[in-house]
Amino acid sequence: MKLLFVLSLVAVACHAANAEERRSFPADFLFGCATAAYQVEGAWDEDGKGENIWDHMTHNRPTTIKDLSTGDIAADSYHNYKRDVEIMRELGLDAYRFSLSWSRILPTGFANEVNPKGIEYYNNFIDEMLKYGITPMITLYHWDLPQKLQELGGFVNPLIANWFEDYARVAYENFGDRVKHWITFNEPREICYEGYGGDRKAPMVNSTAVGTYLCAKNLVLSHANAYHAYNNDFKPTQGGQCGITISVNWFGPLTDSEEDQFAAEIRRQGEWGLYAEPIFSAEGGFPKEFTERVAAKSAEQGFPRSRLPTFTDEERAWVRGASDFFGVNHYTTFLVSATEHLDVAPVPSVIDDEGVGVYRPPEWPVSQSSWLVRAPNSIYNALTDLQKRYNNPAFYITENGWSIAPERDLIDDDRVAYYRAALESVLDSLDAGVNLKGYMAWSLLDNFEWLEGYTERFGLYNVDFEDPARTRTARKSAYVYKHIIKNRYIDHEYEPETLTMTIDEGH
Ligand code: NOJ
Repeated sequence: MKLLFVLSLVAVACHAANAEERRSFPADFLFGCATAAYQVEGAWDEDGKGENIWDHMTHNRPTTIKDLSTGDIAADSYHNYKRDVEIMRELGLDAYRFSLSWSRILPTGFANEVNPKGIEYYNNFIDEMLKYGITPMITLYHWDLPQKLQELGGFVNPLIANWFEDYARVAYENFGDRVKHWITFNEPREICYEGYGGDRKAPMVNSTAVGTYLCAKNLVLSHANAYHAYNNDFKPTQGGQCGITISVNWFGPLTDSEEDQFAAEIRRQGEWGLYAEPIFSAEGGFPKEFTERVAAKSAEQGFPRSRLPTFTDEERAWVRGASDFFGVNHYTTFLVSATEHLDVAPVPSVIDDEGVGVYRPPEWPVSQSSWLVRAPNSIYNALTDLQKRYNNPAFYITENGWSIAPERDLIDDDRVAYYRAALESVLDSLDAGVNLKGYMAWSLLDNFEWLEGYTERFGLYNVDFEDPARTRTARKSAYVYKHIIKNRYIDHEYEPETLTMTIDEGH
């Protein structure tokens, strides 16, 4: 009897200790999922939508896509948006981040002709989310430029800043009464470096010397135009916020040597500093050491001026501080060396300008995507660096996720492990005082993974792409994410009893 009493006292004490140790996410922390128009919507030419650069590329150069697929139908969210909201409710999401298809709203890209059916689709979708208390977060541009604008140069034509502002205004006017979270661009690095400097994204311009840099300047100016338009003409009545999402993977030094530390810094500046520094730094403009390096290389290579353009004082001031929050897409970590693992790169090119090598230890688990590995403290390292560098602005993690092979079943334990580790790293960041407001998992459901087609699956929900109905089925990771959202802490022991999804009361 006495022993029993003592044992139960011990049990109570342990329980209290666990509760004390258990770290919770703040009650107002926004948990959500993210997608992008071209990756999920389909209906590529329905109801007046114009052609965009991904329609154009997948139709005219089909072999650029690994499995020769297209986003013509994708997850068919255009017709399944109610089911999509239903799965958001199953998960108990607070928020949903999605993008608008520019050419669905403005078929030619220009704002003289607005497609009413496009507006209607997004109105219905937004209203359906709001009906169930889900906060819509809109990305204006997630890589699907109207083809007509590409024919005029796209992001290397400085007039893009006007065209983008005009489009943004149409979106604010039509949806801003209900939408309070605006993201101008998704991942400028991937738009500029992969689309203009290289050939890993449409429009595959592959201008290695200057493409990335011309695009970078025009893109941050486009962002600033859209930000100021919102700030001056819509925020006073609509009261929302407008920011940008940049891909910030972590680049740490391979060793503690000064050379490797500097190499890692150069890589950070070349990868994400090019886009973050002009907006979030106190001085504005492109990152200092990287600017010096490109100027020196350009001179050596016989260019009469640096391949990296500069900002006028007026432009610099216009861009600096032009964001209400910093959206971070974070997936992985690279270790950077000054002398080892050097890439073979064309000369001149961004990679050659950086002139560093990257490495990942073989023990870090690899996903279905070769670039995506699970590294320790990845989110913490990235966010605490940004926190110090840019004076702790408001942050959202706007994407984070893990891919698996299409043939896998619904038991995605490697994804569960990735999300649990990532969210522990989020808690570490909150403990360190990072002003982080929310976290969006990539992705709500399987979708078209750009040049990889449907060969890499990122969804918490599986999509059956063989089935005309594009049936959505929750994977194990969906149950685990739902449990975390509901309880606001990470239970590493939790296992769903059955894989049967229901909508909890109140959702
Ligand atoms: C970032 C991009 O924004 C998204 O479109 C892509 O599918 C994911 N990364 C996964 O690669």
